[in-house]
Amino acid sequence: MTDRYAVIGNPIAHSKSPLIHAAFARQTGAAITYERILAPLDGFAAAAHQFAADGGRGLNVTLPFKLEAFALAAALSDRARTAGAVNTLRRDADGWFGDNTDGVGLTRDLQDNLGVVLGGRDVLVLGAGGAARGIVAPLLAAGPRTLTIANRTVARAAALAMDFARRGEVRAASAGALEGRSFDVVIDATSAGIRGEASVPWPATLFAPGAFAYDLSYADAPTAFLRWARAAGAARMADGLGMLIEQAAESFFVWRGVRPDTRPVLTLFRPD
Ligand code: ATR
Repeated sequence: MTDRYAVIGNPIAHSKSPLIHAAFARQTGAAITYERILAPLDGFAAAAHQFAADGGRGLNVTLPFKLEAFALAAALSDRARTAGAVNTLRRDADGWFGDNTDGVGLTRDLQDNLGVVLGGRDVLVLGAGGAARGIVAPLLAAGPRTLTIANRTVARAAALAMDFARRGEVRAASAGALEGRSFDVVIDATSAGIRGEASVPWPATLFAPGAFAYDLSYADAPTAFLRWARAAGAARMADGLGMLIEQAAESFFVWRGVRPDTRPVLTLFRPD
């Protein structure tokens, strides 16, 4: 029996998830298929139901459906509930189980793959939308000295910081309020790059000596944020491909109870 999985989103054509899961399946000897599903913008739930009716076992959910997947799930993991969004659906006997593996994907990539220390450091998240919300709790769990959320619309950053205040030292800031301040780790969680827009101007003082810049999105060439970060003095940087591979491995574990080794897959996708 071959188990069926898919990634669902809109757009979806350029998703690397099928290649990543094919690599995990080869490595673990799992008999699975993994396809891309383009759901109409108003047709996420119908497409998920159809996939389950056809025997589908699990879905990765990507933009713009993570909130709808949260609403669709009959049961939720704690981390999905905390993030308020679902990127992983598993078909159980009593309906969809919703989980969120994005946050752990980020912290594993930063700490385990890239050797970035979060504990005791000053960490800055740029953006306060869905992508930022999904990473705040796992970042706080890593024990930074401070976690600052900066956003073009400062009220959204304040609301997000308030939601997580009981989990750790988290503050909100406007772009202007960052002037003259510096951080050890700066994470771009805005959608400016994905939209192909110029970002609001962040101060060029953001990077402390030795600072690390991370872009949650990924591309074949350095992203606009990473090019800016290099010019502004970031010492090291990475885009979100490693996070994509780590969140995929965690989804694979949620579905199948087997944790793939991500190292050979990271090497496959990023040979340098
Ligand atoms: P996502 O789920 O990708 O986070 P979102 O919820 O629409 O999408 O949030 C987009 C985030 O990117 C927001 O923080 C947004 O800032 P605003 O809250 O001020 O809208 C941020 N963003 C989008 N375009 C941006 C730009 N050009 N410069 C800076 N921030 C931008």
